[in-house]
Amino acid sequence: MLPGVIDFYDRHPISLSQVLEALRRQGKDMRTLAPEDLYEWDQDHYGGLEAVEALARRAGIGEGTRVLDVCAGLGGPARFLARRFGARVTALDLNAGRSLGNITLSRLVGLHRLVRSVRGDAQGLPFRAGAFDAAISQEGLLHVPDKGRVLAECARVLRPGGRMAFTDWIATPRLGDGERRRLQDWMAAVSIESIPGYRALLGRAGFAAIEAEDLSAAWVEILRRRLEMYRSLREDTVARLGQARYDEYSQLYAFFVGLVEAGKLGGARLWGQVLHFNIGGGAALS
Ligand SMILES: C[S@@+](CC[C@H](N)C(=O)[O-])C[C@H]1O[C@@H](n2cnc3c(N)ncnc32)[C@H](O)[C@@H]1O
Repeated sequence: MLPGVIDFYDRHPISLSQVLEALRRQGKDMRTLAPEDLYEWDQDHYGGLEAVEALARRAGIGEGTRVLDVCAGLGGPARFLARRFGARVTALDLNAGRSLGNITLSRLVGLHRLVRSVRGDAQGLPFRAGAFDAAISQEGLLHVPDKGRVLAECARVLRPGGRMAFTDWIATPRLGDGERRRLQDWMAAVSIESIPGYRALLGRAGFAAIEAEDLSAAWVEILRRRLEMYRSLREDTVARLGQARYDEYSQLYAFFVGLVEAGKLGGARLWGQVLHFNIGGGAALS
């Protein structure tokens, strides 16, 4: 499954070169870029900076908080947390291009001391137990086969009392097998959880005070606007990536919008707090 998702993001329209090209077109001076100059381009999730702020509040992120961003992409949310709150963020991503892109962009805007880029698989975090105060993730877990393992790994690397908050695609019982297969083939969505499923996985991973918020209604609007924006950039995308790729993504977005409008697919925000701490593989009360 993992090569599929690496390939998907290697070919994705949002990339380091696209961000740099957009900045050049805006006439930005690369020597004096500020983090704010990137915000329009480097956030690959729904709801923009407000969505990152919402997670930050639920994960208790403030100045000096040691944050792990799982499936961090080009590091947009990580840079925002560093800039806005003074958090120290480790941004983990599986894709080499995304991790290198993060390093390049964080250096360009002078945030490389607060944002560290690590390439790795969320299912086996290369960090010691208790290394972080908070963990976040946005629209990445849909690509990960063993979501229970990711959440257990996050619980392991969080200190006792540490919080995790994330958003992801969620499925309702109405999502059919054929639609699931199409989501997998088209966008490497290896599996899509439900809200009750995620609650159970969080509980098994050692999280307590678990809460969930259904974001599906807001996501329908966001997706509709994304589709319109994507189509309005047709000429540019065709010039960069070719007509076939433009058509592929255009159909993909339209398919998505249809599933969300039909109440088969949606989005959710979930959060919880680690009360247990794994010591030598066992569990103890913090
Ligand atoms: C939609 S992007 C989200 C990026 C970022 N969270 C943001 O909001 O801008 C999903 C990211 O998840 C990463 N990813 C997918 N599977 C992963 C895994 N098993 N471990 C780590 N990262 C993974 C992809 O490479 C991609 O960069």
